[in-house]
Amino acid sequence: MRRRSQLIPWKVAGRVTEGYSSGDDVVRSTGWVFNNAVGDDLTLAEFVASGDDEVPAYLEAFGLRGANNATETMLEIGAGIGRMTAAFTREYGTVIAADLDIGFLERCRETVAAHGNVDRLQTLEVADGRSLAIGDDSVDMAFSYITLQHCVRSDAMHLITEAIRVVRPGGTVVLNLRAPSRLDPLLLPVGAVIRAGFRLPRVGEWLSQQRWLTRLGWQVSRLSPAEVLAAVEATIGDAQVWTRPGAAITLGDAIGRQFDGINPSHWWLVATVVG
Ligand SMILES: C[S@@+](CC[C@H](N)C(=O)[O-])C[C@H]1O[C@@H](n2cnc3c(N)ncnc32)[C@H](O)[C@@H]1O
Repeated sequence: MRRRSQLIPWKVAGRVTEGYSSGDDVVRSTGWVFNNAVGDDLTLAEFVASGDDEVPAYLEAFGLRGANNATETMLEIGAGIGRMTAAFTREYGTVIAADLDIGFLERCRETVAAHGNVDRLQTLEVADGRSLAIGDDSVDMAFSYITLQHCVRSDAMHLITEAIRVVRPGGTVVLNLRAPSRLDPLLLPVGAVIRAGFRLPRVGEWLSQQRWLTRLGWQVSRLSPAEVLAAVEATIGDAQVWTRPGAAITLGDAIGRQFDGINPSHWWLVATVVG
């Protein structure tokens, strides 16, 4: 089967991580893939600390912290090498880390073993980039950060409906998306050209080390609150759309909430799954 181009940059980065023996080296080589930090002195501990800051900040902003979390199961879609996963394993009883790249998931396990509760960790390969191979109603919360924007629209929508399918009625989806913007007519075609380059022998390996070219290659899709809500409104309740104060994102009919920790181009869907 011909691998779809939007998956290739991640697969190449995942292969690069396999060439390093220590978590610190992985973070120095490919950590920018996750948190945009670069430098020869970076450490895995600093990398995890960025997730340790963000996880409680988002959970508190969205009103999702509480003693019950310790007995609940959460799913993290697009976990990467565990930047946020370590913090999730300190908060939730079971954490299922899902990613399309199994190299990343192996690194995620190492990260959580060093900085979280590895006994609470399970991993899940998203082999086709759109389906979650776990049962209906099997988790209490599904979370995804900086991942759905890297999927083609149909895959992103499919993953959103999959997230809702696997969360039990009364559970919560917490999904981060990137909104359409005026730059998209330029950025999205450039991204497509760069992704095509990843298919070329040697060029792909080289591109994967070029931070800004790779970041452009990730520009795959944007989804507005109105189009996502229209597609899933029958399966969720209490839907809230969270944005940064002042962000130029059209909310449509959604209940708008604001948190200043959110990227101005991003929005979050926080909603309860209905039975
Ligand atoms: C920018 S990283 C974010 C990782 C993590 N959420 C964090 O904040 O550190 C995006 C992650 O999503 C994964 N990913 C991209 N497309 C995916 C898909 N269709 N299904 C599952 N994972 C995907 C990539 O392999 C990568 O690990």
